[in-house]
Amino acid sequence: MSFALQAEGLTKTYGAVRALDDFSLAIPTGGVFGVLGPNGAGKSTLFRIALGLVAPTRGQIRLLGAPAGQLSALRRTGSVIETPRYPPYLTARDTLRMLALESGAGTVDIDGWLERVGLAAAADRKTGGFSVGMKQRLGLAAALITRPELVILDEPTSGMDPAGIQEIRALIRELADRDGATVILASHQLDEVRRVCDRVVILAKGKIAAEGAVDSLTASQARLRLVATPTARVLEILGPKGVADSDGAVLADIPRAETPALIRALVEAGVEITEARWRDADLEGVYLRTLDSQEARDAR
Ligand SMILES: Nc1ncnc2c1ncn2[C@@H]1O[C@H](COP(=O)(O)OP(=O)(O)O)[C@@H](O)[C@H]1O
Ligand SMILES: [Mg+2]
Repeated sequence: MSFALQAEGLTKTYGAVRALDDFSLAIPTGGVFGVLGPNGAGKSTLFRIALGLVAPTRGQIRLLGAPAGQLSALRRTGSVIETPRYPPYLTARDTLRMLALESGAGTVDIDGWLERVGLAAAADRKTGGFSVGMKQRLGLAAALITRPELVILDEPTSGMDPAGIQEIRALIRELADRDGATVILASHQLDEVRRVCDRVVILAKGKIAAEGAVDSLTASQARLRLVATPTARVLEILGPKGVADSDGAVLADIPRAETPALIRALVEAGVEITEARWRDADLEGVYLRTLDSQEARDAR
């Protein structure tokens, strides 16, 4: 298996702040990989180290198999880290022309890229007047003109309206599905990650809190949803494994194999069950629960 990014024992401290706290991660090539986490979790720091912009305090990172900062790997990588800045007096088209020249990429279909990122109508406007969302789009085009194998995007839709977000999401999927690129995407927006990513890692305070395919992460935190009366009795039997849902149902956090035993116990206790159904958690549930348990671990 080949890897887009491999981190081992990676630590980065800024004074007393541990931006990355001794973590290891391997992101295989292919598809869209999400790095999810609240602000300050260490997402941008991870990308900066991978791109050789910042040196780690300890540990190692490889990009497309090469040590961080190696030119051969950087040439095969396109990235947008936070909101990019360009000379304000150049038009979008001239900015891309300049960058294409600098990169030595040869002939670049600049109009095609402007179209693909949704900037065709603004191609001849000076970028100084661009909104944050437009700068993000330009950054994306700049990252893509060299047709990189690996695309690293840090919060690519920040500052965009819902229609723009949807467009960029479609472009990201297309990069992976049609152009065959590997995309690594950082975001604190669950919805974005759920819709576009195949696999995710959840970062919290510089550590990996959870990792896996979006489907398996949500399935692994499935709950048995019980509509049964009296609810109080159900909660009593479940103890700490039960929580009341907003609509009067009870969610049971038990292994699937224990379902028959639980149902038997409930019936024997005189509970009337109208409905018992396994329900996958949504990514939001996984995310919040993961961050909660991380906090609990830290508090100990
Ligand atoms: N250049 C820097 N100097 C000092 N602290 C920094 C610097 N860059 C990042 N940090 C700190 O490191 C932590 C992780 O930041 P960052 O990687 O930007 O998180 P994220 O991208 O997930 O929001 C934060 O606490 C942040 O304040
Ligand atoms: Mg960031």
